Amino acid sequence: MLLVAMLALGLAAGTAQAQEHNDRPEDLPAGQGRDETFFTCTACHGIAIIVRQGLPRERWDATIDDMIRQQNMPPPDDADRRLIVDYLAAAFPPRARGRQPNNPFLNRP
Ligand code: HEC
Repeated sequence: MLLVAMLALGLAAGTAQAQEHNDRPEDLPAGQGRDETFFTCTACHGIAIIVRQGLPRERWDATIDDMIRQQNMPPPDDADRRLIVDYLAAAFPPRARGRQPNNPFLNRP
């Protein structure tokens, strides 16, 4: 009985954590800064909202400002910020939509 209760509690806890997303760092493309990016950026939302973007470095940088100013993201320190922007610019550059050539919605001009 105790075991059943513990299992139920474990499941409930797991469900609560998974409310926002089930993403793991490995779901992002490998690269330096991946883990820092993952743990900084998935505090509030999943990676889907990030990976569908393809932006030049300065717009990723501006996105971080947006998150800080509009969403109350705690500002990362300078070193982390550079690492995260470098990672995002390398992993999700402009025209990254070409990664899914069969998706008509992602291939509009
Ligand atoms: C403190 C919470 C929080 C953190 C941390 C956070 N975001 Fe966001 N982000 C949001 C919210 C809220 C939205 C708006 C979601 C929506 O519209 O559904 C958003 C939206 C976005 C969008 C969609 C476009 C836009 O500008 O609204 C992108 C891209 C994005 N975030 C990237 C990031 C990246 C990259 C990081 C890590 C550096 C990050 N976010 C960290 C809260 C956060």
